[in-house]
Amino acid sequence: MQNINTIAVIGAGLMGAGIAQVFASQGKEVRVYDPIDASLMSLAKRIGQNLALLGQSQDCLENLVISSSLADTVRDADIVFEAAPEQLEIKRSIFRELLPLVKDSAILASNTSVIPIKDIGQDLDHKGRLVGTHWWNPAYLIPLVEVVQSTTTSDWVVAQTIALLEQVGKKPVHVKKDVAGFVGNRLQHALWREAIALINDGVCDAETVDIVVKNSFGMRLPVLGPIENSDLVGLDLTLDIHNVILKGINRDETPSALLQEKVALGELGMKSGKGFRHWTDLEADQVRNNLVDYLVRVNHKTNT
Ligand SMILES: NC(=O)c1ccc[n+]([C@@H]2O[C@H](COP(=O)([O-])OP(=O)(O)OC[C@H]3O[C@@H](n4cnc5c(N)ncnc54)[C@H](O)[C@@H]3O)[C@@H](O)[C@H]2O)c1
Repeated sequence: MQNINTIAVIGAGLMGAGIAQVFASQGKEVRVYDPIDASLMSLAKRIGQNLALLGQSQDCLENLVISSSLADTVRDADIVFEAAPEQLEIKRSIFRELLPLVKDSAILASNTSVIPIKDIGQDLDHKGRLVGTHWWNPAYLIPLVEVVQSTTTSDWVVAQTIALLEQVGKKPVHVKKDVAGFVGNRLQHALWREAIALINDGVCDAETVDIVVKNSFGMRLPVLGPIENSDLVGLDLTLDIHNVILKGINRDETPSALLQEKVALGELGMKSGKGFRHWTDLEADQVRNNLVDYLVRVNHKTNT
C-alpha cells in the first residue's frame, strides 16, 4: 500500500466535517475546501464539539488546514474525499475541475449517498481512480464505510481505500456493483417502504411501527445481522416464512402516495413539527440527544 498521509476533503458540511475529524484524530494531515466561508470558518468549532463529546483531546485540530482554494487543497493529496451536495452536476464538475490539479497517483472518492459512481465519473479521463466511499452520519461515530467499485474503478484503488479506512479504525466493506443505494441504504429503505405501507394500509399507527422495531428485532441487530439470523433459525424455517409472507410485502416501485401527500402538505417530520408522527421541539431534541448519547456509549464500549 502506498503511504497515504495527506487527505483532502471537498465540502466542509456535516459529512465533510466527520470525515475530516476521523483522519485528523488519527494523525493525518487533512486539507478541507468549501466555497462557502461560513462552512469553513465553523469547521474547527464543530469538530471540537464532537471531540469534547467523546472526551478526546483537541490537539488533532492542528492537523486541519482549511482553504477556499480547490487547487491548494488537493495539490499534495494522496486521496480526495468529495462530500459536496447530493447533486450529480455539482459532483461531476468538482471531479472535472480537480483532476488536472491532483497527483497522478491520487485516489478520488465520492461520498454520494445514492448516485451511481459511473454517472459521477462519466466524463473523466481517469475513471479508474474514482471510487465510492459511502460514510454514515455521524462519520466519526458510525464505523461502516461502503467502498463502491464501479465497472471502471481499478482494483488497486479499492484495495488501497479499504486499507486506509481500516488503518484509521473504520469498518470498510467492498460493494462489488455500483447499484443505487449500495448495500446499507437498500436494506434500510426496504424496511422504510414496508413501514410506510403498514401505516398507509391501517395495519398499525406510526408510533406502533417504531415500538415494534425498537422492542423486537431492532434489539438484536447490533449483534445479529439478518443473514446470521436466517442461519440461526434455519433456512427451512426462513423458506416456510417466505412462502407465506412475501406475497403480502409491499413492492411498489415509486414512493408511497402517503409519503408524497405529506411532503406536499409540508409535513416534513421533526423540522416542521409533524411528519408521520407529531413532534414538539423538546421531543425532537430528545430523539437527537438519545441517538448521540447511545452512539457515544457504543463507541466508548468498543474502544475500551
Ligand atoms: N447527511 C447524511 O446523513 C449523509 C450520509 C451519507 C452520505 N451523505 C452524502 O454526503 C454528501 C454531503 O452531505 P452533507 O450532509 O455533508 O451535506 P451538507 O449540506 O452538510 O454539506 C455540503 C457542503 O458542501 C459545500 N458545497 C456546496 N457547493 C460546493 C461545491 N461546488 N464544491 C464543494 N463544496 C460545496 C457546502 O457549502 C456545504 O458545506 C452528499 O452527497 C450526501 O448525500 C450524507
